[in-house]
Amino acid sequence: MKSVIFTLIGGAAAFPFVANAPGVNSPWSGSGLHRLRARQQPGGEGAGSEANCPYNPNHVPAAPFNPKYPYNNAKNGQMGNQKGGYLVPAKGDTAHQFVAPNPKTDIRGPCPGLNAAANHNFLAHDGVTTFDELVDAQQNVYNVGYDLALLLATLGLTLTDGDVVTEKLSIGCDATSRTSFNPALTGSEPGLDGHDKFEADSSLTRNDFFLDNGNDFSFNGTLFGYMASVAESTGGGNFDFNAMSAYRKQRYDQSRAENGNFYFGPLALLLYGASSFVYELMPTAGGPADLATVSSFFGTSKNSAGQWVFNNNEQIPPNWYARVEPYSNNDVTTQILEQYLKYPVLFGGNTGKAGGSFDAVSFGAIQNGTISSSISATQTSCLLYQLATGSVPSYLNGVLTPSVKALSFVLEKLTSNPTFKNLGCPIPLT
Ligand code: HEM
Ligand SMILES: *[C@@H]1O[C@H](CO)[C@@H](O)[C@H](O)[C@H]1NC(C)=O
Ligand SMILES: *[C@@H]1O[C@H](CO)[C@@H](O)[C@H](O)[C@H]1NC(C)=O
Repeated sequence: MKSVIFTLIGGAAAFPFVANAPGVNSPWSGSGLHRLRARQQPGGEGAGSEANCPYNPNHVPAAPFNPKYPYNNAKNGQMGNQKGGYLVPAKGDTAHQFVAPNPKTDIRGPCPGLNAAANHNFLAHDGVTTFDELVDAQQNVYNVGYDLALLLATLGLTLTDGDVVTEKLSIGCDATSRTSFNPALTGSEPGLDGHDKFEADSSLTRNDFFLDNGNDFSFNGTLFGYMASVAESTGGGNFDFNAMSAYRKQRYDQSRAENGNFYFGPLALLLYGASSFVYELMPTAGGPADLATVSSFFGTSKNSAGQWVFNNNEQIPPNWYARVEPYSNNDVTTQILEQYLKYPVLFGGNTGKAGGSFDAVSFGAIQNGTISSSISATQTSCLLYQLATGSVPSYLNGVLTPSVKALSFVLEKLTSNPTFKNLGCPIPLT
């Protein structure tokens, strides 16, 4: 079906390809192409469902803070020293040595950064974690800045239906019986595997939810191989800014061509954040994001046939030092925009046919599917913050509106915090 073509105004003008792209609909064009989209959440007995989720009857929290091995001195969800450059795990710190997850009891999910942190007991080893563990581990392992650590932990809990009463979250599949304060009241809490929330299509090494019967969290070695090839051809062997921006674009193009239900909404901003983590957080202090480092975090090695396979050892590489400067909210939003502006794409979704017509979305700095290169400093700072406070277009004909409960949680965790108070982002009303 031929459809209304984008008009050349505002943000779209910066990217003439948008106007020329065939089959691009404006969501306001009334073209009537919106269709009911399949509910893309794990449910019943499927991949990521509670029925298939590892279960540990003897939950043990993350290894407790030990003043002998302080790392960033982050504990109880508070701000640490904000100073990296230390060895992780520290010499003699047996509590944080790598222990491979047990597939029967330990939940792992789509995030290699959190999986590795759990394998080293910086998060509960069984993968049922808490807000404070997430805030502490991001600071202590990776020297994520306190502002960004708070923001990501908040997004993790509110976007994926972690529990804002118990402040618990599964880093993978649905573990409602263990995260919820009252399953009858909260309904199911899908954890980080839950689709089209924090998890999204066109991940670096995970299949799209719709293309693999709801399995959007398992490692795919073919995709890792593609990423390594781009690192080879574009980054001189390193998974650097150039390589990761190019590979992010490649994955977008692949999903748009192959997945009729491809949806790349505002929450896909987080995917650019995640790809920046590969070159900003994974390298040892001052070192490159080389193949040895990245394959260690992703838990993959080459088999005798030359294929990348998952080895269940998502691990901090040997002799690894946390980055020296904290990685802040402004750092990550800058990297998100630089990657995006290097290869601008449309935010929105396929309307049912792979490679067919596409609906664009608007939200905050994203207007008619694009972000303008003239985005203001305030809009930049508020880019991720708004995902936690705004009504985010979720499916093409739906929005994800934070509940009053979720908004008061955000207010408590972020808005009352001096680092976010002064940004001038729109404050949610509860
Ligand atoms: C509370 C903090 C965090 C939460 C809630 C979180 C959650 C997630 C989720 C849901 C995904 C899947 C996104 C997708 O659909 O592709 C993801 C991907 C990813 N995360 Fe995290 N994450 C956090 C912190 C970190 C940290 C500290 C690192 C550091 C290395 C990291 C590295 C990554 C990478 C590299 C990916 C992309 C994996 C892939 O696409 O194959 N994350 N994260
Ligand atoms: C987005 O598209 C609509 C409808 O075509 C138009 O009225 C609006 O001005 C556009 N906004 C921007 C920022 O391009
Ligand atoms: C891995 O990804 C490739 C490329 O998208 C796909 O063809 C293949 O089916 C995926 N493999 C698995 C086991 O899902």
